[in-house]
Amino acid sequence: MPTKLAVFASGTGSNFVAIADAIANDQLDAQIEVLVVDKINAPVVQRAAERNIPVFHLKYKDFATKELAEAALVTELQKYAVELIALAGFMRIITGTLLAVYPNKIINIHPSLLPAFPGRHGIDDALAAQVSQTGVTIHYVDSGIDSGTIIAQQAVTIEPTDTITTLATKIHALEHVLYPTTLAQLIKHN
Ligand code: GRF
Repeated sequence: MPTKLAVFASGTGSNFVAIADAIANDQLDAQIEVLVVDKINAPVVQRAAERNIPVFHLKYKDFATKELAEAALVTELQKYAVELIALAGFMRIITGTLLAVYPNKIINIHPSLLPAFPGRHGIDDALAAQVSQTGVTIHYVDSGIDSGTIIAQQAVTIEPTDTITTLATKIHALEHVLYPTTLAQLIKHN
C-alpha cells in the first residue's frame, strides 16, 4: 500500500511538484492525500489543483492558539489517515500538539547544511558568510527551528561568481532530487 502522505507548504511549490512527479513516475511509493497551506493564495495551491489533490487551508488566525489550530489540523489529517508529513517550504513552527500525534513522522527540507544557517534565509545567509560550500538538509521536525535529527545532506559548492540567483538555482535543483529520494528510502525502510 502506498504511504499516505500530507505535504505542508506556504509558497511556490517546486518541492511539492518534485514529490508528486516522483510518485507519478513510480519512484516514491506514496500518495499525497492532502496539501496543507497556511495561505490560500500560495502558488502551490494551483499545483495541487492541477493534480486533483485536496487542499486544506489552515487559518491559524481563526484559533486562539497555535496548539488549537494544530488540533483542528490533526482532525483533518486523520480523515485522510495520513501516515507521514513532508514540510516543503512551510513557514511555520510545528508544536508539540502535532509532534505528539506524528512522532518521527514529520520531515522537513532546508536549503543549507544544517546546523549551519537555520531559519528563513538559509541560501542568502550562506552566500553572505562567504563559505565555500552550502547544501541541502532533510531532517526530522522537532519544536525548534530547523533543529531536528538530520536524515540526509548533500553539499553544493559556492563559486566566487555565484549570486543569490545562481546559488538558489543549484540548491533547488538538488532539493528536487534529494527530497523525493530520501522520502522513498524512509518509506522503504519503515
Ligand atoms: C525550499 O528552498 C525549501 O528548502 C525551503 O523552502 C523552499 C520551498 O520552495 N524550506 P518551494 O515552495 O518548494 O519551491
